[in-house]
Amino acid sequence: MKGNPLYILLWLFLILCFACSPGKKEKKYVIGVSQCSMTDIWRQSMIRDMEVEALNHPEIELVVMDASQDNDTQISQIKGFIKKKVDLLIISSNETEPVTPVAVEAYSAGIPTIILDRKINSDEYTTYIGADNYEIGRSIGMYISSLIKGETTILEIWGRRGSSSATERHQGFVDAMSIDPNVKIRELDGYWYRKNAYEEVLKLDSIEDVDIVFAHNDMMALGAREAIEERDSSLVGHVEFIGVDGLLGGGLGVEAVAQGKLDASFYYPTGGGVAIKVAWQILSGQAYTKKYALSTAMIDKTNAGTLYINRKVRQKNHLLNERNRLVQQQKEELSVANQRIEQVTTQKLQFFTNVSHEIKTVSYTHLRAHETVLDL
Ligand code: FRU
Repeated sequence: MKGNPLYILLWLFLILCFACSPGKKEKKYVIGVSQCSMTDIWRQSMIRDMEVEALNHPEIELVVMDASQDNDTQISQIKGFIKKKVDLLIISSNETEPVTPVAVEAYSAGIPTIILDRKINSDEYTTYIGADNYEIGRSIGMYISSLIKGETTILEIWGRRGSSSATERHQGFVDAMSIDPNVKIRELDGYWYRKNAYEEVLKLDSIEDVDIVFAHNDMMALGAREAIEERDSSLVGHVEFIGVDGLLGGGLGVEAVAQGKLDASFYYPTGGGVAIKVAWQILSGQAYTKKYALSTAMIDKTNAGTLYINRKVRQKNHLLNERNRLVQQQKEELSVANQRIEQVTTQKLQFFTNVSHEIKTVSYTHLRAHETVLDL
């Protein structure tokens, strides 16, 4: 059978079919994303920003791991990424100290490492992307200083203490407030979450002295507001609530300021889209820098309304542009696929013409050989 010319032709035909079939673009680069938590909208929009930007690079595959705010889980997930030899790693650490050694281990293993939003305690990484949290804390302190007259009590609600964003927001804030002798600061742990902040404020012995709540993010500021309202609704109108993040949707940030539930917030960009842009620069051998500082902005009642509308319009435009781009891309892919199919069909027709010619010739030769034997 193996020597049979028809058998050989069949193999050639199959090889040709596989070689000519229009295939999908291969994923060339795997980017591991080590995310400290995924339960809040800010972190979810960070991942969404990454996914949108990754649409521009079909060669990229994103693999996201959620550490659920647990240092040990994050460490073992990063070890897993190192073992798999991902092409690039993005880390947003749960807490600075415990996650630093494994982040350095990844970098030393030759994996380009992007540190996003929350820092590590070492210079051994490829690049850092994030806004200046110390400056955010300081600006909030200065804003508060401009509001207060006489003795004032501020309730500062901390994010997770071991995370760099919380420590830096706190440091900037106390540095700005330290010049004011009339200020008393009370501290409380909210671990970044609305529920924690709400429960901790409910537990406080007294809240009557609180003039201002500065929470390290908007969710906790809103949680504190709910608790104060529940304890004594007459107090809530006299307290200023200030947070950080300035998210657009979900009743948080900008929306909460526009509705008067928060007095101010600070826009804190997720950096997800920038991280993928920079990742692509690194992977494709383009130039990049060691640090990308993202800009922030103060949001209060004077600009929340317009910001709210502008950002909604910008988001809608962005979505429309993205949709147009995808439609255009699909059209182009379709036309390439059509060309390929035409080409393959022509090649197959040509092949069949040749094959039928070969079969005729082969059968004729076999027949002649047979006849010759019989003649003998
Ligand atoms: C979300 C979050 C944000 C905050 C950021 C700081 O997990 O707490 O609200 O701005 O992390 O790292």
